Amino acid sequence: MSKAIKALVPRRLKKWLKGRGHAGYLRESTRFRDIGSPGPMIEIFETIKPIPGWFNVDDCSHFSLLLAQQSLLGLEGDLLEIGSYHGRSTALLAACLEDGERLVVCDAFESETEDSYAERPSPETLLRNIRRVAPALDADRVEIHECFSNDLRLDPERRFRFIHIDGGHSREQALFDLELCSRHVLSGGTIVMDDYHHPAWPGVTQATDEFLAANDRFVVLADLNRHGALGRKIYLTRIPD
Ligand SMILES: C[S@@+](CC[C@H](N)C(=O)[O-])C[C@H]1O[C@@H](n2cnc3c(N)ncnc32)[C@H](O)[C@@H]1O
Repeated sequence: MSKAIKALVPRRLKKWLKGRGHAGYLRESTRFRDIGSPGPMIEIFETIKPIPGWFNVDDCSHFSLLLAQQSLLGLEGDLLEIGSYHGRSTALLAACLEDGERLVVCDAFESETEDSYAERPSPETLLRNIRRVAPALDADRVEIHECFSNDLRLDPERRFRFIHIDGGHSREQALFDLELCSRHVLSGGTIVMDDYHHPAWPGVTQATDEFLAANDRFVVLADLNRHGALGRKIYLTRIPD
């Protein structure tokens, strides 16, 4: 906005505009003027949008694209998510499962975590939300672990093709989750870390950078901005053996 135009804007309107900050409203938006002519991905996003959460239309596209590409290239394996909240991102993962694959979810649910969340869900709420989006999915293909990720016990041989980390946001927790997941991701599989470079959670960036510096088996596949979100999602792929 030029100085001359700025001077014409009433102070209350300026304050309101400032409050809009980084255009957070775009997180929920699928208005044509924000996204162009809506395609099938918008229909999918509209089904998960009523579920409380932060996963936006860009995330929906990025996850769907990568998961479909993995399947086309023959990468088969289960999906894992640490930090589901009510299941907005989880439901999208469930919708992308291929035959024979399972979805594993770990969340602290009603237990207190280092970051506070309003209206915490129960595992039953999460499952209900997933089933609303993927009604044909057999119950035994979703494995819900109600625990802190530090207490998540996975078979050492268990491997996943895609992992979404969106749990605790401190450096220590993010690093713990990355290291845990790095032991369980398939060769050629991808770990997605949420809130990279989010100003409110510098620990996530520190942990991710430390992890990358210490693990040359992983490369940054993509580091993606998302409309209406301050943090990026960074995609770390395990270099195929
Ligand atoms: C940001 S929310 C997840 C949002 C969801 N992925 C989405 O995109 O809508 C973070 C979730 O992580 C969970 N959480 C936080 N710290 C955790 C920990 N140490 N272990 C397991 N879950 C944790 C919280 O209970 C919360 O449900």
